[in-house]
Amino acid sequence: MKISAPRGTSDVLPQDSYKWHYIEMAARRIAATFGYKEIRTPIFEHTELFTRGIGKGSDIVRKEMYTFEDKKGRSMTLRPEGTATVMRSVLQNNLYLKSPLKLFYLGPFFRYERPQEGRFRQFNQFGLEAIGLDDASIDAEIILAACSLFTSLDLKHLQVQLNSLGCSSCRPKYREALISFFDSRIDKLCSDCQERFKVNPLRILDCKNPDCKNIADSAPSTLEFLCESCKNDFLDLEQILKIYEIDFTINPKIVRGLDYYTKTVFEITSGQLGSQDAICGGGRYNGLAEEIGGKSIPAVGFAAGIERLLALMQKTGSFSGIPVEPRVFVISIEDSCRLKALEILYALRKNGIHSEFSYGKKNIKKILGSLGEGTEFVYIIGSDELAAGTISVKNMKTKCQVEIPALDAVNFISRGNL
Ligand code: HAM
Repeated sequence: MKISAPRGTSDVLPQDSYKWHYIEMAARRIAATFGYKEIRTPIFEHTELFTRGIGKGSDIVRKEMYTFEDKKGRSMTLRPEGTATVMRSVLQNNLYLKSPLKLFYLGPFFRYERPQEGRFRQFNQFGLEAIGLDDASIDAEIILAACSLFTSLDLKHLQVQLNSLGCSSCRPKYREALISFFDSRIDKLCSDCQERFKVNPLRILDCKNPDCKNIADSAPSTLEFLCESCKNDFLDLEQILKIYEIDFTINPKIVRGLDYYTKTVFEITSGQLGSQDAICGGGRYNGLAEEIGGKSIPAVGFAAGIERLLALMQKTGSFSGIPVEPRVFVISIEDSCRLKALEILYALRKNGIHSEFSYGKKNIKKILGSLGEGTEFVYIIGSDELAAGTISVKNMKTKCQVEIPALDAVNFISRGNL
């Protein structure tokens, strides 16, 4: 029996890995531009971190976690998201003493979801977290950083959807209003939403079921219930986003799937991705640190799905990276030239020049035909060159060919001659 990768996971194959590097490099550049430093946390954590942090009522905790017992019977979970893990590390290492603390992460996350286009069981996120400030200017910075990443990847026609979920003083009143609204309509909701009604009625607002959507359309909006302070912060955020030239729409249905959010929440979506249209989601989570046993620390952040970015770039043709290929390809035409050719290959590599060898292949035409566009020069060593102490160099762009002393193999590349 052949063994294949588990459902909902996939291999990044060598012919595609350069696309990942391209996105990851763009992400690291944005993090550096905005002053965010990398944090790397474990792939698995104590399960309690997520049940307390993300919330028992969330879909993630109720049915999507990869949870297992270790050999000592402790419950562990593969991280389903990065925010709770980052906050755990910040508290554990007292990093919050510096404010704002600006962190980024890049790596795999795990959710036992029903796999479909754009939704996987192992997926990768790039995330930013700004910890220690409760100020709309940092919420705006987070949104600007996400938009800047997408612009740098040449992604267009994205929708920034914004909402505010209020704080611990105004949210309970909104929750009551929602409960009384859905209470009389509960029979018409899907079975998932009937469950959500009991644990977190807010989540009914982003159910994809058409009947639930219809009902939710006339539900009260969170924005009508914001207290003065949340209202002012939201207005402040809108003003700053306008200065940053970010087009956004206010969508009271953006409630997010994780329970830790307070005040600002946002999603950035694309109309070209089908049902899994969010390339990024985030918001403020002022209660998370306390929820997982720390002191009260305000924070805001976002995470973008790398697989979805890649899919979108491929769909829209905005991909401009090229695969990394050897600059120099060394060909030994005859067995008698093999050792000399390997000596030249060694000298090139010792000097940091990406080079490759013909390894047993002798048909020059075939070799030349198989080279990628990244290869600039081909070094050919046959018996004539061996006898004369030279190399025949073919410039793959100009198609010109010259003969150079074998001793010049490295210098020739540095000078970029021909
Ligand atoms: P999230 O909305 O669950 O938020 O995930 C963020 C992004 O990760 C999504 O917009 C999507 O692009 C990608 N994503 C999520 N699940 C999957 C999946 N199963 N397959 C493929 N891609 C997926 C969070 O994770 C929060 N921690 C974001 C955050 C950071 N909030 C504050 N700081």
